[in-house]
Amino acid sequence: MPTINEILKTMDYGPAPESTKETNAWLDEHERRFGLFIDNAWTAPGQTFATNNPADGKEIAQVTQATTDDVNRAVDAARRAQPGWVALGGHGRARILYALARLLQKHSRLFAVLETLDNGKTIRETRDADLPLAARHFYHHAGWAQLQNEEFADYRAVGVVGQIVPWNFPLLMLAWKIAPAMAAGNTIVFKPAEFTPLTALLFAEICQQAGVPAGVVNIVTGDGAVGEAIVKHPGIDKLAFTGSTDVGRIIRRETAGSGKKLSLELGGKSPFIVFEDADLDAAVEGLVDSIWFNQGQVCCAGSRLLVQESVEERFYAKLRARMDNLRVGSPLDKSSDIGALVDPIQHQRIHGLVEGARAEGCTIYQPECVLPADGSWYPPTLIMGASTSASVAQTEIFGPVLVAMSFRTPGEAVQLANNTVYGLAACVWSESISLALDMAPQIKAGVVWINTANQFDAACGFGGYRESGYGREGGREGMLEYLVPLAEDARPAAPVAPVKGKVKEADSSGNPFAIDRTAKLYIGGKQARPDGAYSRAINGANGEFIADVGEGNRKDIRNAVEAAHKASGWSKASAHNRAQVLYYIAENLAARADEFAARLGAMTGAKNPEKEVQASIDRLFTWAAWADKYDGLAHQPPMHGITVALNEPVGVVGIVCPNEAPLLGFISLVAPALAVGNRVVAVPSEAYPLSATDLYQVLDTSDLPGGALNIVTGSADELAKTLASHSDVDAVWRHDGSAEGCAEVERLSASSLKRTWTSGGRGRDWYSDKQSAGRAVLYHATQVKNVWIPYGV
Ligand code: NAI
Repeated sequence: MPTINEILKTMDYGPAPESTKETNAWLDEHERRFGLFIDNAWTAPGQTFATNNPADGKEIAQVTQATTDDVNRAVDAARRAQPGWVALGGHGRARILYALARLLQKHSRLFAVLETLDNGKTIRETRDADLPLAARHFYHHAGWAQLQNEEFADYRAVGVVGQIVPWNFPLLMLAWKIAPAMAAGNTIVFKPAEFTPLTALLFAEICQQAGVPAGVVNIVTGDGAVGEAIVKHPGIDKLAFTGSTDVGRIIRRETAGSGKKLSLELGGKSPFIVFEDADLDAAVEGLVDSIWFNQGQVCCAGSRLLVQESVEERFYAKLRARMDNLRVGSPLDKSSDIGALVDPIQHQRIHGLVEGARAEGCTIYQPECVLPADGSWYPPTLIMGASTSASVAQTEIFGPVLVAMSFRTPGEAVQLANNTVYGLAACVWSESISLALDMAPQIKAGVVWINTANQFDAACGFGGYRESGYGREGGREGMLEYLVPLAEDARPAAPVAPVKGKVKEADSSGNPFAIDRTAKLYIGGKQARPDGAYSRAINGANGEFIADVGEGNRKDIRNAVEAAHKASGWSKASAHNRAQVLYYIAENLAARADEFAARLGAMTGAKNPEKEVQASIDRLFTWAAWADKYDGLAHQPPMHGITVALNEPVGVVGIVCPNEAPLLGFISLVAPALAVGNRVVAVPSEAYPLSATDLYQVLDTSDLPGGALNIVTGSADELAKTLASHSDVDAVWRHDGSAEGCAEVERLSASSLKRTWTSGGRGRDWYSDKQSAGRAVLYHATQVKNVWIPYGV
């Protein structure tokens, strides 16, 4: 008599195919040829290209390759529509977003089948994940539109936004982009990926049914050239891009100096960490979701398994057994787990990387499964024995391929987890809540899932750290990407360009003691001589010499960045502690207010320099006050648990300070960065640096740990360039008023995708709290990490 297990093994699922009848009818209605959707009307199909079904390689429809003229017309339509869309008001927009949500739900099966046909992902996923989440985004953002006057009263819409998405979640990415943009009052030119344009075109019809006014949503199809035309268009005020890190870099360079707002959601190589005390069976299920969902073509896929050595073999055995049961097959079959890859080109790429790993001696496990003859398919794959620097351990494979490694201690797990240029997501599996919550802040990633994987919700922001990009989608922080603070419009056009001192050899006076009277640099909590033996004379408003300051160079910036990295304790210090230090700085500055006022008066000729000193003390109090009040949020997504949104520091921030208000400008930028735990390398006003160098003693007596704030005087242009090109600097702020200099910072920032905040050559009223303090500044000083914590499951 066979055992029950033997019987189960002989049983299999029968096919359960989803019907394509409705979808085919819709395609046929359009004669399987599509134009573009501009200004609420379809254009006649132009030059077209085929979009194919990845599961059988057959053509589904022909789609138009938009021209530059088409993009121009789409931007014009969006521009014309924008004032009316804003004038409709929050409630008016909310009603339309709500209608879109309802229509997505009503037609969800049509959308799900169309997505499966065009993308190759399983119907289970499009039906149960993509569609409900897309609808949820429209509901959630209908709510933000409704509440906009109350919750974002000090902001306005950015204007016309260009949105470019990849092929892995065509409709979901559309929802993530279009819903917040519409809610905030923007109008849109949207480009789907060339592999998967169809659900965006169906969405255009839903827009007509929902009464979206003409020009608010425009959909242009085509390849990267169409994306490029959108990126370069001067009528676009903001770009939102999801896709490869390489294209993200191109877009950053292309938009440098244009003033376009930019958010980038790029690649990832996310760790999936399993501790020995984890529920291993649950972790295996989480891993299936994490790496085999959507054939692993997911930016936040848990593609690096890090498992504690003591349970390594046991875990691999469970994992292999589970892999053996994964069903690869027709995406339309409701019992398929893994569908088709989007295109043969992805197959080539994945195959190349896996075979490369095999040639390097890695162990590859792939279950025996019969893959369909036509289309692009790849079996679930586990790679063991790769070195940490191996290509498969560092490159985003974007396929159903898991690379496994082991670790011994939590510290080693953190180190391995962060050993990547990316920082999108991470999973931590442990039954010890203390251990899991201790790991979460240490991992450099925008999302951390504890004992769960691949959870998303419109209320919880999603986005990356480091080369995974910047900006968030979803939640309050996602709305900010589509808004501009009103105070920005009130900024002065251009700051006054001050006279800068001339650089000379430090001892050109011939006086052997002159070097010691030169104001030095401040690195690692100590005064340091500049690496090159140069200084520059600072003359007063009356033309008389006041003092020499050291002329910092690349080496000094490198030393300062190194010191800032060593001062990691500042980021871990309690908010109360950071507030105390800022209060001490204010107190010590107040004790020497007369001296600072005299110096400012001498340097700038200001009639009332006391005012700037008092305003600086006031501003220090403001940032000390904020240090322990910029709390995160606890979201309640639809799971049994909470998602905690933490406002984390960005890391090491390079700050090039303004010339106008040299003390207040310095304090207004450096203090908020410090308040939330960043470490800073500051370049003071090039023309009037002495107010910053005079601060050294104030800092020494204020308990600021060495390295938390480093000050390098010298040429703003030179030092800004070095900061923007430095791979260990996480963000650069440039506010000294040089438009070309700001553009260069943005261009150079593309190499490591650091965040930037620049003046764009405009001035700022440093006395105005609206322009120079508050949440709009904190937005630049922090990045949101969402930690998902289910409980009771
Ligand atoms: P891609 O980044 O080239 O394409 C994404 C979107 O950008 C598409 O709509 C494309 O038409 C557009 N695009 C391409 N070049 C552009 C340009 N110069 N300017 C403006 N838009 C442009 O990604 P692709 O080629 O589809 O995939 C290549 C690799 O990128 C994948 O194997 C994967 O590793 C990674 N990737 C990552 C994604 C993520 O979500 N993080 C999504 C898609 C791809």
